[in-house]
Amino acid sequence: MQNMAPSLSAMTKILLVSLIMCNSFALPSAFPTDDSAYEFEQWMHRFGRSYRNATEKLYRLGVFTRNLEYVRAFDIEGAQNYTVGLNGFADFTNDEFKAIFIRLRRARFRPSTPFKYARVIPPKCIDWRAYGAVTPVKDQGPCGSCWAFASVAAIEGIHKISKGKLISLSEQELLDCDFTNFGCQGGWPQRAFSWVASNGGITTEANYPYRAIRLTCNFLKLGQNAASIRSYQNVSSNDERSLTKAVARQPVTVCIDAGSLSFQLYTGGIYDGPCGINLNHAVAAVG
Ligand SMILES: *[C@@H]1O[C@H](CO)[C@@H](O)[C@H](O)[C@H]1NC(C)=O
Ligand SMILES: *[C@@H]1O[C@H](CO)[C@@H](O)[C@H](O)[C@H]1NC(C)=O
Ligand SMILES: *[C@@H]1O[C@H](CO)[C@@H](O)[C@H](O)[C@H]1NC(C)=O
Repeated sequence: MQNMAPSLSAMTKILLVSLIMCNSFALPSAFPTDDSAYEFEQWMHRFGRSYRNATEKLYRLGVFTRNLEYVRAFDIEGAQNYTVGLNGFADFTNDEFKAIFIRLRRARFRPSTPFKYARVIPPKCIDWRAYGAVTPVKDQGPCGSCWAFASVAAIEGIHKISKGKLISLSEQELLDCDFTNFGCQGGWPQRAFSWVASNGGITTEANYPYRAIRLTCNFLKLGQNAASIRSYQNVSSNDERSLTKAVARQPVTVCIDAGSLSFQLYTGGIYDGPCGINLNHAVAAVG
């Protein structure tokens, strides 16, 4: 799967929304119809997708048909706070989606004491995008590198807030050079922060561009830092009050359960669909 190299629009930044515990179960594929075959061709064209042979294509059509049925049923159910659609993940089963794209190494976060933001009184609303502290959405591609993107987004944010400049920073440097993590096989954001702190910083996206595959570390770039952090703190698991305080002061890396089909096919709005406590994805809370 990893070398299909499709153009996938991975949401690596979302606004934080409330988590609701629930289970979902979905069959991976369905019998294609003329209608779904037509939609599939349109979709393949839109996303520039191609398949190696007819067998693979037929299989993907079955998966796509199942997802199409899901999207249509979702619309019939009526007004929701979020939308689903035939996005770049529409030809993946939910199991494939989970196996390929969401590769956070499971973790619970011990609270850091004293918690730096304990006394913060959060405003009613904050959107760090409006402060220019958030780079445009990036695409992790077919690589389990959410941990790198989510960590880099938080560093980009605090760098803008403290130094006044928004600089897009390098996920690839983490992917290649942070040996405490596992490249495209997943990682832990807290280790990424420790690595950046001990390296004395991290270079720019432009200087060490993203390739969606783990390559040999370019040691030359390790000294060419554009932003740095001294340390990081944990917000303890399931403590939304503390998380709100932290997000009031800076974009924060958060670990979520992104495993449900509605999350896979999410296209917009405030996601309040089914999700559990099986942390498998890292994103940046920017508001
Ligand atoms: C079609 O491609 C898949 C991999 O994408 C491969 O496993 C399968 O053997 C191929 N089938 C034929 C008939 O070439
Ligand atoms: C949408 O969000 C509001 C506010 O959280 C909630 O009261 C409402 O039930 C949600 N709608 C649906 C369909 O879940
Ligand atoms: C954050 O939590 C992780 C997981 O429990 C732990 O390994 C790490 O040492 C903690 N970091 C800090 C700075 O407290």
